[in-house]
Order: sequence, then structure tokens, then C-alpha cells
Amino acid sequence: MSEIIIKTQDQIVGIRKSSQLAAQALDFAGQFVKAGISTGFIDDKIEEFILSHGAIPATKGYNGYPKSSCISLNEVVCHGIPSEHTILKEGDILNIDVTTILKDFYGDTSRMFWVGEISQDAEKLIAVTKHCMNLGIQQVIPGNYFGNIGFAINRFAKAKGFSVVYEFCGHGVGVDFHEEPQVDHASRRNTGPKMKPGMIFTIEPMINQGRPGTKIDKHDGWTARSVDNKLSAQFEHTILVTETGYEVLTDVHNEYPIT
Ligand code: MF3
Ligand code: CO
Ligand code: CO
Repeated sequence: MSEIIIKTQDQIVGIRKSSQLAAQALDFAGQFVKAGISTGFIDDKIEEFILSHGAIPATKGYNGYPKSSCISLNEVVCHGIPSEHTILKEGDILNIDVTTILKDFYGDTSRMFWVGEISQDAEKLIAVTKHCMNLGIQQVIPGNYFGNIGFAINRFAKAKGFSVVYEFCGHGVGVDFHEEPQVDHASRRNTGPKMKPGMIFTIEPMINQGRPGTKIDKHDGWTARSVDNKLSAQFEHTILVTETGYEVLTDVHNEYPIT
């Protein structure tokens, strides 16, 4: 088992730049989220954006994954493969997940988008999922246990009547796509390793309306759907542990003051 990397100042600067670019790619993608547009078209635009900024999409060719982003619609939990045949329609909710490699540094972020008017249930799921991620982020303090991230997330999701996907996790990130540690989104209090300044990892809870389980599409080997085909939502940020708290490296909207 490899160790959790403590990043150097130079690595932090590089990972911050890549993280900001990944978040800007999501901002850019947002303008194309409309009824009648295919997820394949949005992926093409994301790829153009990333390449034109001197970076590479980390997902393309990763374990054979074919596209520059993951676009996960409605009951898709994660790893939805963008396709010219998947056309957005009014009422859809979708997660777009982008990971960039800029000068060998990785930044990883995702957020929810939606098409026109969505159901109140869908709205609630999205709001709760974002709050789950934020509660996880608030646990990022040097000396705190990684398990407290998943403890906070799971407690809130359950209280709202939703369930936390346990088959996919957050992860260390920065000099590689998926580094140690695994960041569980449902875990026990005061378990796992302790956070140290210079660690960088994602918090990316997937929250299901129904049961927490997932099933992988037999045909493409990637698309993970909720077992009961109910809605699923996800948000993801790349976070740096600072001497005193955290910095959300993928925050391009000044939503998270550095603590
Ligand atoms: N970006 C995803 C994550 O948050 C990983 C996607 S891997 C892929 O970890 F191969 F499915 F693209
Ligand atoms: Co990730
Ligand atoms: Co991601």
C-alpha cells in the first residue's frame, strides 16, 4: 500500500492551476446544457476547451475510458459515457465530471446541471448532495480523521431520507489521477488516517434517492446506475489541507473562503 503524498509547494501551485482549469471547463460546459443537445457534443466542447488551454483530459484513455468527461444523467450514479445518441430533454438532471492534466498535475471536479424545470424531488436531491459535500469539506482540518468526512456526509444524507453510494469513493489526487487515500462518503467517526497539511484529495459524494447500490452497464462496462433506477446526484471538489484548515482548489466562484 502506498503512502499518502504530502505535496511540495511547487506541486501545490501546479495542482491548483490544473484544478482551476477543470472548474473553468465545467463553467464553459454549462452553456451547452439545453434540451436537444447531446452529451457527446458537450464532451467535444469540453475536450476543445481543455486542449486549447494547454492541458489534457485525464479520462481519455484511462483504463480504456473513451471520452474527455463523464456525463451522468438521472439514474446514472457516475461514469456515464457521453454520446451523440444521448440527447438532453426538459427535466433531466446531470453531473458533468472533468479531470485535467496540466503540466503533469491533476485537478478533478464535478457538479450538477439540469435542463429547464425539474421536479421538486430532483431539486431536493441536488441541494442535499451539495450540502453533503460541503459538510465533508468542513471536516478538512489537520489532525482530523478521514472517517469524519464520510460520517458527516452519511448522517446528513440519511436524515434527509437519501442514501450514500459506498461503491465509489473520493481519492488522493494531484500527481496521479487516483492516489491514496480512499475517501469514503459513509464511514465511522474517528476512523482512517489523519489529515496533514499538504495532502490533496477529492470529496465527491454520490447520493441516491432510493437504495445505495449500483450496477454497471453490461454493454459499455462503465456506466454505473442506481440499482433501483432512481435518481442520483454528485458534486466533487479537489481540496488541499492547509496548516489551519482547507483550500478548495477547484473553487472558481469564491464559494469557499480559505480557512
Ligand atoms: N473523475 C472521476 C473521479 O472523480 C473518475 C473518472 S474515471 C473514468 O474520480 F475513467 F471513468 F473517466
Ligand atoms: Co474524483
Ligand atoms: Co471526478
